[in-house]
Formats: sequence, C-alpha cells, structure tokens
Amino acid sequence: MDQGTVDRLEHLREQIRFHAHRYYVLDDPVIADGEYDALFRELLELEAAHPELVTPDSPSHRVGGPPLDAFAPAEHVSPMLSLDNIFSAGEFAAFKERVRRYLKTDEPLRFVTEPKLDGLAVDLVYRQGVLAVGSTRGDGLVGENITAQLKTVASIPLKLLAPDGAAIPEELVVRGEVFLPRQGFAQLNRQREREGEAPFANPRNAAAGSLRQLDPKITARRPLAFYVYGVGNPEVVAAPGQEALLAQLGRFGFPVNTLIRVCRDREEVEARYQHLMAIRHELEYEIDGMVVKVDDMGLQQRLGATARAPRWAVAWKFPAVQATTVIEAVEFQVGRTGAVTPVAHLRPVEVNGAVVRRATLHNRDEIERKDLRVHDTVLVQRAGDVIPEIVKVIVEQRNGREQPIVFPTACPECGDPLLAAAGEAVIRCGNRYCPAQNLQKLIHFAGKSGLDIEGLGKKNVEQLVNEGLIRTIPDFFRLDADRLARLDGWGEKSAENVLAAVAARKTLGLAQLIGALGIRHVGEVTAGLLARRFADLQQLMTADKEQLQHIEGIGEQTAESLCAYFEDQENREMIAQLADLGVVVLAEMTEETSRTSLDGRVFLFTGTLQTLSRDEAKQLVKAHGGQVATSISQRVTDVVVGDKAGSKKRKAEELGLAILSEEAFLVLISGESAG
Ligand code: IVH
Repeated sequence: MDQGTVDRLEHLREQIRFHAHRYYVLDDPVIADGEYDALFRELLELEAAHPELVTPDSPSHRVGGPPLDAFAPAEHVSPMLSLDNIFSAGEFAAFKERVRRYLKTDEPLRFVTEPKLDGLAVDLVYRQGVLAVGSTRGDGLVGENITAQLKTVASIPLKLLAPDGAAIPEELVVRGEVFLPRQGFAQLNRQREREGEAPFANPRNAAAGSLRQLDPKITARRPLAFYVYGVGNPEVVAAPGQEALLAQLGRFGFPVNTLIRVCRDREEVEARYQHLMAIRHELEYEIDGMVVKVDDMGLQQRLGATARAPRWAVAWKFPAVQATTVIEAVEFQVGRTGAVTPVAHLRPVEVNGAVVRRATLHNRDEIERKDLRVHDTVLVQRAGDVIPEIVKVIVEQRNGREQPIVFPTACPECGDPLLAAAGEAVIRCGNRYCPAQNLQKLIHFAGKSGLDIEGLGKKNVEQLVNEGLIRTIPDFFRLDADRLARLDGWGEKSAENVLAAVAARKTLGLAQLIGALGIRHVGEVTAGLLARRFADLQQLMTADKEQLQHIEGIGEQTAESLCAYFEDQENREMIAQLADLGVVVLAEMTEETSRTSLDGRVFLFTGTLQTLSRDEAKQLVKAHGGQVATSISQRVTDVVVGDKAGSKKRKAEELGLAILSEEAFLVLISGESAG
C-alpha cells in the first residue's frame, strides 16, 4: 500500500471534517464552497481508486451508500423514553412540586429549557469516536438501523472532534432530533407536486419519510438537519448537569440548539415559554413546545423514570392552532399522472387567521387510520404555512348520519378501473386518454412549471379544452386567432396576445421542453440533468435504461418512467408533430461547455430567491463551472440578490461588485445574452 495515498486520504478527511463542522454546525465557514468541493472531489476520486482504504467515518458516506433491502433492528443501550406533556403554567407548577416532593427538598431548582423540535428522535452510537450505529426510536427499546441514512445528514458528526485532546469515551450514545427545516420542506413539496407525487402533510412526516428510505442516496438529497439533546449513557460523560453535558457534546462536534437557556425559577421558565411561543414562527424550523429539564445530573438520577417518561423532564406544548368543523363531502381528484386523491370539502372555518374550506385526505390508509366519514365533525389544524390537515374525528359528535367514505373503483372522470400499485398507498387511473389527466397535463404544459405561456393559465386552458380548441400538446401551436377571439370573454386583442405568447415559445430549451411534457418523476431538476447530458431530444428518446441511470441524480424509477414515455408510439408522434409545427428545441450547454462558462466567477446568494431554492441555485453555479461563496470577500465576483437581501447586498454595493437579480442570473445560466 502506498503510504503517500494513506496519508493524503487521512489529511483530506481531517480537512473535510473540520470545514464541514465550521459550515454545518457552527455556520461559520472559513473556506469557500468551491474549495471545500475540491477537497471532497479529491477524496471521492482517491477512494474510488482505492476502495480498500474507505473507512466507516469517511465523509464520503455523506453522499449515501448502496440501497438496503430492509432495515435491521437495532437495540438501544438504554430505553429511549418519551416525555409527559403539559399545557399550562399551572401544570408546570405542579410538575415542579412533584419533583420537590420526590426529592424531599426545598432547595431552589435549576432548569434547562430547550425548544421542542418537531422531527424524529434518533440514537447515535459512537465507538472509539466513530459513528457505528444510528437508529430510530422504534418502540423505545429496539429501533430500526438507519446508519447509512443518518450518515448523509450533514450536521451529524461521523467522527467526534477532540479539541485540546479531550478524552473520547470508548462508547458514547447520543440522542437528538433529525428534522427538515421549513425551507427544505417547502422545496421538497414543490418538487413532489411538480413530479406528480402527493405532498407531505408536515415537516415531521417529510423528515420521517426521508430517513426511512431504503436508498440512502435519496436521503442524501433531502436537506435534513440535526440537534443533539441528550445521551443514552450519561455515565461516560463527566458532566454535572444538562447544560454542561450539551456544552461537552458541542465540543465533540454536535450541533446544539442556540435557543437553549438555563432558568433559575418558575418565573424564568414561564417567561422563556412565552418568548419561544412568540418567536416560533420566525424560526427556520418548526417547534411544537418547550422541553424543561432539571439541570442537575445527580438529581436526574435520583428522580429516574417511569416506564414511559423521565420524572426530571416535561414537554410544555404550545397550544395548537386548531378548530372544529364538518366534512360536507369528499371529492376525488385526478392528477396529471393519474393519481386519485381524496379531498374533503369542509364547512368553512377560520383557523389562525385563514379560512379553511378544503383539506387533502391523502389516501385510503390515512382515511382508515383516522376513521373519517362524511358529515363527521372533525378537528382541523394549520401548522405554519403547511396545508390544513384533519387531526381527528370528534367521535362524541356523531349522530348516526355519518356516511363512510367510499373509494371509487372507477375513475370519477373517465370511468376506467382504478389501479393500486404494489407498495403504494395511492390509486391511479391507468387510462391514458382520461380527460382529467389530460387536462392536468395540458395545464402543466402551458403553466409556470412548463412553457409558462402568458395568458394560458389554468382557467383559460380549461376553457380551451372544454371548447374543443385544444386536445393535445401540439394543439397549442395550432390555435387560430379567429376562433379564439370568438370565445366567451375573449376578443381580438387577447387572442392576438396569446398567439404571440405561443409563438414566442416555439423556440425553447431542451430542459424546458422535457419538464413541460409532464413525464412522471421528471421535474425541473431532472429535466435539467437530462438536457445537460443529451445533445437533443432524439438522443434522449433512444437512450436505454442503463444509460439514463448512469446520470448522477437519476434513479431507477425515473429511468423506467422515461423509457416507458419515449417508447410509447403516441408520445413519439406527438413529439414529431411538434417538430412539424415548427417547434425548435435548442440544445442546452453540454457538460463541457457549461463547465467553463462561469469559470473563474465566484457567486454569493443573499435574500430569498423566488423560483430557485438556494441549493438549486448553488448547483447551477457549480454545474457551469463557477464557485459559490457564503460570505462577502475579495474573491466574490457576482452577488445574486433575492427578496429582503440585507447587509450582504449593502456590502456588495460598497465593494462595487456585480449585482444580479434572480432573473438576470437565470438568463446568464441559460446562456442567453443578458442584454
Ligand atoms: S428529551 C428522556 N429534548 O420529543 C428524554 N426531547 O415527546 C427524552 N424532542 O421523543 C427526550 N426536542 O423526539 C428531548 N429538546 C428536546 C427535544 C425532544 C424534541 C422530542 C423527542 C422525544 C419527544 C418526546
């Protein structure tokens, strides 16, 4: 074995570990993203050449290993307990009294208050400082082994840090919460909707769904985060209390929530609760309450636990924003990919300032689990910006008028039999000529995630379809000014405008066309990946499954869906018709040309972007050979400003750097002249 390679690998891992901790845990990077990426790439290349030198703590595990067949059980060293809930200051006073009585003391108690994150509890076992096993809570005694998935969560250390040579325990069992920050949640749901998948109801479900993926590569693409809140074997950390324990865990490299505070009496605890409740909507992640813990470890030990929860801690929950209303009817909607979703029509009710009229019921499992019936009185809740959901039925309000929700066996739109795919909770209409599916496809094609044809929003497309002017995608390019002008609510001017808008879309980029076709599992991001790999549509259409799966970021399902789409004779004819109608598809920049186009430029993003997520924007820069910085420095060449850009924008102006809007950035990336 070449000692030089071994040393280089060790050096790279040390460097990456250090910089990842600065970036993901301390939020204070000291090198540019591009430099970090270069280190990471070198590591991946060296390990690919020397697979025998890959270690379990290598940062290369962040990208996700091979998929698993099933999760193995993982036994916990000590039970993972739950917490008792309280809802008022009075109940907190009672908790404190109970603690006092149990300890037979009148001494003042010190409490640690922590935000209660709404995610998933995980257990992380470190042996000799290296992450060995990561698991879910399961039944508290045995969980599921999700080590490979947890390794992809960037803020979970794969190897403990030992600043100033502090001793690392032989075995350390750390516990904390994995969660999906709001922005990542919104982004994930937008993507799912674009790809014809049902959105997740809340960040907690999305986090759970992301972690419980047999393929860790899927987990790796979800922007999950982690905060530590305790240990399973406190005896190995010599900390006198919870505060000191968290500080020590921070030194080992774990992210510790910055909102954790020590409170010296009941008044301070109450004030902290009020404060957290007041700021909860401004946080980047959801919290559903505050956890209060007796700080002193010795007292914790004396207090012990019941079978369910420790006696030294309690969860003081926030009141949920809920209301009761009635399910008046259930409608089944057919989406673009044929998925049939039950939607409840509710008697309108105000929840936290917004009127709720409808709620998705997701699927049959969800309806059965909650035992929902038409005319049921139900509790609805709106959490943050999340779509309203039905929490439960108020069974006491039933009067016998309730009707079971009957799932159609035939498509409500076309009457074809509905199919339940194996392993999926959704049912689909398999009729490719289903008018409802077709309508949704056409709406998608002309809409914002498709060609974005001005004047052809949802309502107008519906009208054109109903009037028989449009039946297939090519029909958009066959529209006739006279017939349009004669439609209800139209006129010569609007007809002319729409025809001009359609004409303007006759020349379009390959990625845009692929995305607009509405192929299942193929959203904007996938379309971009495909367009960068294939010179034209013909090449893509003849690619086989293996070729497609070789593209980084494209999995088996997507590859299969693409093959099926392009093998289909009618789809091929439809595409041929587009060409005959004069639709010109421009090749995107190939990997080689795009790699060089932003060469030497360093981008900084600030403020909220409207169409791209931060991650997408960064990926775009990197895909075009540029670099991304996270703070203003001499190296930055371009600053892209979104909404509410703050100090970074001012600083960029002072330094005289190029300042771009998001739109200008997109134009730049698409290779058009910025004008
Ligand atoms: S302490 C034995 N601290 O809440 C102590 N839990 O309702 C158990 N949670 O399963 C947990 N934030 O997933 C603790 N700062 C925090 C927490 C927290 C969220 C979750 C955790 C636990 C659940 C109990």
